[in-house]
Amino acid sequence: MAYMSLKDIDVCYDKKKQVLKGLDLEVQEGELVSLLGPSGCGKTTTLRVVAGFIEPQNGVFSLDGEDLTKVPVHKRNFGIVFQSYALFPHLSVYDNVAFGLKMRKMQKAEIDQKVKRILEVCDLTEFGGRFPQQMSGGQRQRVALARALVIEPKLLLLDEPLSNLDAKLRINMRMEIKRIQKQLGITTLFVTHDQEECFSISDKVAVMNQGVIEQFDTPENIYQKPETEFVARFIGFENFLSLRKDGHGYKTESGAAFAVDTGNREGVCMGTIRPEDIRVAEEGQTQNILEGTVGVRTFLGKSYQYEVLTDAGKFLVNRPAEETYEEGSRIRLYLPEQKLILVS
Ligand SMILES: Nc1ncnc2c1ncn2[C@@H]1O[C@H](COP(=O)(O)OP(=O)(O)OP(=O)(O)O)[C@@H](O)[C@H]1O
Ligand SMILES: [Mg+2]
Repeated sequence: MAYMSLKDIDVCYDKKKQVLKGLDLEVQEGELVSLLGPSGCGKTTTLRVVAGFIEPQNGVFSLDGEDLTKVPVHKRNFGIVFQSYALFPHLSVYDNVAFGLKMRKMQKAEIDQKVKRILEVCDLTEFGGRFPQQMSGGQRQRVALARALVIEPKLLLLDEPLSNLDAKLRINMRMEIKRIQKQLGITTLFVTHDQEECFSISDKVAVMNQGVIEQFDTPENIYQKPETEFVARFIGFENFLSLRKDGHGYKTESGAAFAVDTGNREGVCMGTIRPEDIRVAEEGQTQNILEGTVGVRTFLGKSYQYEVLTDAGKFLVNRPAEETYEEGSRIRLYLPEQKLILVS
């Protein structure tokens, strides 16, 4: 059985709109799982259910074999860093971080050792004596993170914990989060809008769409093998080709023949491919070919990106900078079968 599980969770804030719709998620002990999806899809709501801030209308949340669905927030003892989860304004940074340990009645010397260690990790050593209102947004965010990590919780919930940090500090902090999380084996749910951050830090990624999880997989699989058009578009695929199953292969609407290595879908489906995976056809090649006219060209540094207008729609194609094609010229594109992905 999974260490943490959400089973068939329904949440409605008001009667009109259901925000989570039978959501299922299973996380193994020690894993870091990210929720990724467009604004409003229900990521924060999912974390609120896990944290205990809201009780779902239906469904069960369990951790380590225990049903916690009706257990209040303060009895769950999770580490939480939410977008708007404030620090205690009347306590110094040191005391904010020490708070959870004092509540656990830990010895003073042990508290001091743990707090100093985590302040160092979060690059806050010099700020121990300050109060939250004397700190910048990014510094406060790090205090919130230190406060959540120091208690070595059974579950760590992070909702955009790095959003106020500059790019360099963000990368340092995400590596720190991953390191501490692995070192202490803390099972973690992480929400971020930054896809690179999400893919780099996660053991698994749950891509959410309108209150359900569309795909739950490793970052590599999500990136290389999106299963639905929604997931593919969300992670940046822009080239889509409508295909119909035809014998062992597929045909486009205008009858061009395509073969696809992976996946097998009946009826009508979508093929998708990244711009850098499209080649220019060699003479004599007849399968997986789209003919089109070269449109706008954009310089990307190592390559040019071309818009190519084909009878199956517009395709973006990246070609090395040494190889150029003039606007208005005809071009035959080859979509290698190993790189063409079928989505539903
Ligand atoms: N307290 C509330 N009362 C009513 N509706 C709410 C409440 N909180 C959130 N919602 C609605 O529920 C939906 C999901 O919200 P949620 O905060 O979970 O989204 P999210 O995925 O975290 O988005 P973002 O990426 O913008 O943070 C949204 O349509 C939102 O407007
Ligand atoms: Mg949110």
